[in-house]
Amino acid sequence: MDLLEHQAQELFATHGVPVSRNRVAGTPDEARAAATGIGGRVVVKAQVRTGGRGKAGGVRLADGPDAARDVATAILGMDIRGHTVHRVLVTEASDIVDEYYVSFLLDRSHRSFLALVSARGGVEIEQVAAEHPEALARTWVDPTGGFDLAAARRLTVAAGLPDEVREDVARVLVRLWNVFRSEDATLVEINPLARLADGSVRALDGKVTLDDNARFRQPGHARYVDVTATDPLEARAAGKHLNYVKLDGSVGVIGNGAGLVMSTLDVVAYAGERYGGVRPANFLDIGGGASAEVMADGLEIILGDPDVRSVLVNVFGGITACDAVADGIVAAVGLLAGRGEAISKPLVVRLDGNNAARGRQILTEAALPGVRLVDTMDGAARLAAELAGKGA
Ligand SMILES: Nc1ncnc2c1ncn2[C@@H]1O[C@H](COP(=O)(O)OP(=O)(O)O)[C@@H](O)[C@H]1O
Ligand SMILES: [Mg+2]
Repeated sequence: MDLLEHQAQELFATHGVPVSRNRVAGTPDEARAAATGIGGRVVVKAQVRTGGRGKAGGVRLADGPDAARDVATAILGMDIRGHTVHRVLVTEASDIVDEYYVSFLLDRSHRSFLALVSARGGVEIEQVAAEHPEALARTWVDPTGGFDLAAARRLTVAAGLPDEVREDVARVLVRLWNVFRSEDATLVEINPLARLADGSVRALDGKVTLDDNARFRQPGHARYVDVTATDPLEARAAGKHLNYVKLDGSVGVIGNGAGLVMSTLDVVAYAGERYGGVRPANFLDIGGGASAEVMADGLEIILGDPDVRSVLVNVFGGITACDAVADGIVAAVGLLAGRGEAISKPLVVRLDGNNAARGRQILTEAALPGVRLVDTMDGAARLAAELAGKGA
């Protein structure tokens, strides 16, 4: 989960990373009031989950409250790299002498954390890495160890930071490391970390990516979830503890177990080539237990996707045997009809594995309208793709 700058700054502040006074505004009048509260010159900044806001005109200086209102009027509603600006951050304008770059990130290829520092801040770090690789100092941080002041000091020396700011930057680095570790982030970045005319060092920008896998032990992070940015079906599936992922095709896919679901996607895409490039619309992994309720929830979510034209249910019976899954499908269809959501799209079912014959028999006897049984995975994928291709 990527945070907005103002959220990143809030986390920084709680860990003692120096930030500027700031307030969030959703309207030009709020921006004016925020500027009045802060006093003096302010910078009005677009709050969008992308960098390069400065270049795009989303970061502007305002001399006072009226100017802040006018600048906010221009920035609110702007499109920056495909992100619409709904809010601005009004922050104290700083007198910048120098701009540095500091970050901690998860380096998956080294199975480690990486700390980066550069004396060339303010520009995108990819550009620094490409044009001035020598200006980028890096060190890997052992996830089971830590990052102390001594390591931070070494890094500021390696990056060639001016003598007089090294100690302050090193202290910021240690605090930023605390943000990274204690908040379970996969990225924390300050660009620029600015040296101001009064000699102090301050984070003027902030980028934080939180590890969604750590959400269970970070209850405080729930407040950062942007419900408007989450696909409503994904949100509903998450609420029911189902793994649902939206794709861009037209065959809904339900399976049990990640491996089977992944290979089902491949088989559907392959079969779909014959029918004008039919592809999976989404997938939902119902996991080990395919109870009637789980199946009903799964079908409801898959059928709630307007792009779905046919559904493929691909189940390999294991601990939950095929007869239980078949009972689940029959009951799910009944449950959905009871909820006023009778199945309106063709459902192709392939059952194999434990008690497959019994499962098929249950579905055959139930003779549910719109439900077709196919014995093989390839055959089921072909039929589902064909039905979706026809728009049936
Ligand atoms: N509070 C501030 N006071 C003065 N200048 C600022 C302030 N915030 C940002 N800037 C300037 O604007 C530039 C771009 O802002 P930044 O927050 O880094 O956005 P982005 O990285 O998305 O372009 C900074 O490099 C800095 O020079
Ligand atoms: Mg920046």
